[in-house]
Amino acid sequence: MRRIRAIILFIALSALGSAVVGAGNWKPLSDDGLHDPENPAIEVLQEPAEALSVLVPDGAGNKVDWVRSLQQGLIAPRPSLEGDREPEILDTNVLMKNTYPLFYVNFPHKPHTEWMSCEACHDRIFLPQVDANPINMGKILEGEYCGLCHGAVSFPLTECNRCHSTNPATLGRESAVVGEGAQ
Ligand code: HEC
Ligand code: HEC
Ligand code: HEC
Repeated sequence: MRRIRAIILFIALSALGSAVVGAGNWKPLSDDGLHDPENPAIEVLQEPAEALSVLVPDGAGNKVDWVRSLQQGLIAPRPSLEGDREPEILDTNVLMKNTYPLFYVNFPHKPHTEWMSCEACHDRIFLPQVDANPINMGKILEGEYCGLCHGAVSFPLTECNRCHSTNPATLGRESAVVGEGAQ
């Protein structure tokens, strides 16, 4: 019960948050509450609107579709912090069915391995075996599993149907996949 209440509260708060920030409406550095507007060094920093407006737009989070920006070659991130690992792209999906009453989660390896090496997740966050990890939404909202990155550095947890993208009722048909995440 407590977890369900936490999820409902979370959705309500996020709806409020996204009503305030419009699409592509990046705050200037002098007004973001992080940088000191009096410090003359602020001049040498690139403004978010200048850096991000050239990438593929998105309605959520920091308003950039990072997956499509990478696929179009607009950015070229390193597969590991030290740059000492080669990217190895894996094009498989894992369907996660413990999602009632929402749609199934379709976890796509491809967009993840275009960004990072296997070691970013295996075995520290996830054992590489279907259903070997006791994942649930409460833990994700507390910053574990998918929530280590989503809501922190990748698209926010308010985008339910990007993960919960597969309708169990139409599974097997083309229309099964409704979210942007599944491909
Ligand atoms: C980053 C991906 C992701 C996002 C975004 C996401 N979920 Fe989930 N959700 C999961 C995963 C993974 C599971 C566990 C699936 C499994 O183990 O089979 C899950 C499970 C659930 C469950 C099943 C019960 C439980 O407590 O685990 C519910 C309900 C749920 N999510 C609701 C939501 C709602 C509502 C949102 C949007 C506010 C949301 N989820 C956003 C990935 C996500
Ligand atoms: C962003 C995190 C992430 C990255 C990066 C990642 N994986 Fe996974 N992997 C997962 C998750 C989540 C599962 C599903 C675990 C579950 O069902 O509990 C999984 C499952 C697997 C499985 C078992 C399912 C299957 O399809 O057989 C294998 C094998 C696997 N991963 C290999 C790899 C390899 C090889 C790489 C690098 C090329 C990689 N993974 C990169 C998160 C990741
Ligand atoms: C180690 C970090 C990390 C973890 C853990 C992680 N993701 Fe992601 N995920 C990313 C990044 C980075 C991207 C690409 C940037 C973005 O879309 O914000 C991404 C993108 C995605 C996409 C969008 C794909 C597209 O085509 O647009 C989906 C769906 C997704 N993740 C689901 C999940 C689910 C479900 C889990 C947990 C089972 C998970 N992720 C765990 C980092 C992570």
